[in-house]
Amino acid sequence: MFSMFFYYLCSIRIKNCIIMRIISIASQKGGCGKSTITTMLASHLAYKLEKKICIIDADTRQRTIQHMREIALDEVKIDPQTKEPADVKLCQAFCLQDKKPYPIIGASLDDSIFNVLEDVLNKDYDVVFIDLPGSIENNIFFQVVANCDILFIPFIQDPVDFQSNFDFCRVIVNAVLKNKESRLNYMCRFWNRYKDIRPSQFEEMNSFLSEYIPDVIPMVNRVGYSDAVSNSRCRSSLISPAEEFLNYKNFNLRNFLEEASSIILK
Ligand SMILES: Nc1ncnc2c1ncn2[C@@H]1O[C@H](COP(=O)(O)OP(=O)(O)OP(=O)(O)O)[C@@H](O)[C@H]1O
Ligand SMILES: [Mg+2]
Repeated sequence: MFSMFFYYLCSIRIKNCIIMRIISIASQKGGCGKSTITTMLASHLAYKLEKKICIIDADTRQRTIQHMREIALDEVKIDPQTKEPADVKLCQAFCLQDKKPYPIIGASLDDSIFNVLEDVLNKDYDVVFIDLPGSIENNIFFQVVANCDILFIPFIQDPVDFQSNFDFCRVIVNAVLKNKESRLNYMCRFWNRYKDIRPSQFEEMNSFLSEYIPDVIPMVNRVGYSDAVSNSRCRSSLISPAEEFLNYKNFNLRNFLEEASSIILK
């Protein structure tokens, strides 16, 4: 199906005792929340935990994260006529936080992405996120995944999406995680857009995953379904998710971000 040759960039680099981590929140299913969770987690690590972060936006078709950054930068700009920004609350939070936005670098899912990765590896980032499209038929996809340290797989409760993500996990475990040439050494899964409906069906899905893909470690915390996600101060690459959203009970964002950060920084 695809070549087993991995373009292997480097073993884990140690620079000034900092171990750079390459992370991807990946699935072959569109709309599971890859770009959303990538941005919230990157912003939490950058602005709350003060880590040096960069995102490589390799979703060439959509460029969701790059677009969102452009929109946010426009919205915090002061309009010379009204003397106000378009998004006053975001602008206030951004100014108060007083931190330079982390870089978001566009890359195509072809050989050129390895030049981008090599450049990034020569900088002292603590964590590099790669936002990938869901196109596993592309051989480059596997090579990029093989150069990640950790993959987070978002699952949603829809049965069709569930099956597709399950198949995705099985392929990645066998082709990459178990391949000694690959850098990938940890895969975990979590629920996103979780709604507390049909708990027995949900438990069945969980047991099924634990039985058939035991190498993909379940996270304790899931991200609930919440309209807060669409708020500019929740999913911004300019500020860490605002406190008020972290505390929404069913959203569970604070616990999720803390657990994910500790997996990454371990
Ligand atoms: N926890 C959540 N609660 C409510 N809505 C959410 C949640 N997570 C993501 N969404 C919404 O789901 C939609 C898809 O999210 P997102 O674009 O992050 O998915 P994706 O996996 O990156 O999709 P694609 O495969 O198209 O790149 C967006 O409208 C986003 O706002
Ligand atoms: Mg996306």
